[in-house]
Amino acid sequence: MIHRDLREQNRRSWNAVVGAHDSHRGDLAAFLREGGITLFPEERALLGKLEGKTLSHLQCNSGGDSLSLVRLGAAAVTGVDISDEAIATAGELSARTSIPALFERADVYDWLKETARSGRRFDIVFSSYGVVCWLPDLEAWAEGIAAVLNPGGRFVLVDFHPAAEMFDEHWNHARAYTSGGQPMLLDGGVGDYVAESEGGLTPAGFAQGVRGFENPEPCYLFRWGLGEVVTALGGAGLRILALKEYPYSNGERHFTDLRELPERRMVPPKGVPAVPLMYGICATRIGRR
Ligand SMILES: C[S@@+](CC[C@H](N)C(=O)[O-])C[C@H]1O[C@@H](n2cnc3c(N)ncnc32)[C@H](O)[C@@H]1O
Repeated sequence: MIHRDLREQNRRSWNAVVGAHDSHRGDLAAFLREGGITLFPEERALLGKLEGKTLSHLQCNSGGDSLSLVRLGAAAVTGVDISDEAIATAGELSARTSIPALFERADVYDWLKETARSGRRFDIVFSSYGVVCWLPDLEAWAEGIAAVLNPGGRFVLVDFHPAAEMFDEHWNHARAYTSGGQPMLLDGGVGDYVAESEGGLTPAGFAQGVRGFENPEPCYLFRWGLGEVVTALGGAGLRILALKEYPYSNGERHFTDLRELPERRMVPPKGVPAVPLMYGICATRIGRR
């Protein structure tokens, strides 16, 4: 599998930042214990009814969304993430909330391969918000997802739209549309976007927490166009049931110059024409493999 060294570097960069992110999340355990759900309406609509379903949550980070899936009725949820720190935090959150879920630390490619080989299958595979940019090989990812879905099972993805990458912080069309997935080095590593979002990503309330975080570990992004994502899923035998594009970004402030609408929807300032800032996909596994 390609770029294992870069993915391991990304693991170090994520390990370094997870504590800073979590320091801003307020009392997430109390929020979840009291019935709070961290998922946004867009993924809830694409996921549909969860009662009795088995789910795998890929790139689950610190597990708030995974535990929310259980709260919404899923029969069993397995969260997977490459970061040791994120998985440790997710396990602690599960213990502190008494919401059961299985958390497995693994590179998503290794996990999909091993899970397919072992015969474990899921009704739904879910992944969201800043996930595709960590994947150096979309075909292997899509094939791996198709292989761990039960027949008729669904894959749900919500992610930031690559069109948003074309704009600079003043909303000038400054960069070409992304494609090809070539590695892009970020010397400053994974940043503290939870702090920068000033509450947009912390439904349990925003805590100041760690200030001025600087990541000593660089990271590598792999930037793909939306067509490449959809083509990889179709090529793996998944039928696209829905492809939604949203003119807002949930929670995350990619740019300083954003207006916040109700439900933590971030949009460009007045006078800037709408652009898609987020997309959602629901696809189903058809036939036998
Ligand atoms: C922006 S976060 C996703 C947000 C997450 N859905 C949430 O609810 O907070 C991206 C996650 O991808 C994980 N990741 C990056 N590369 C990975 C890989 N190769 N395999 C598994 N997880 C990976 C990171 O550790 C990080 O937790």
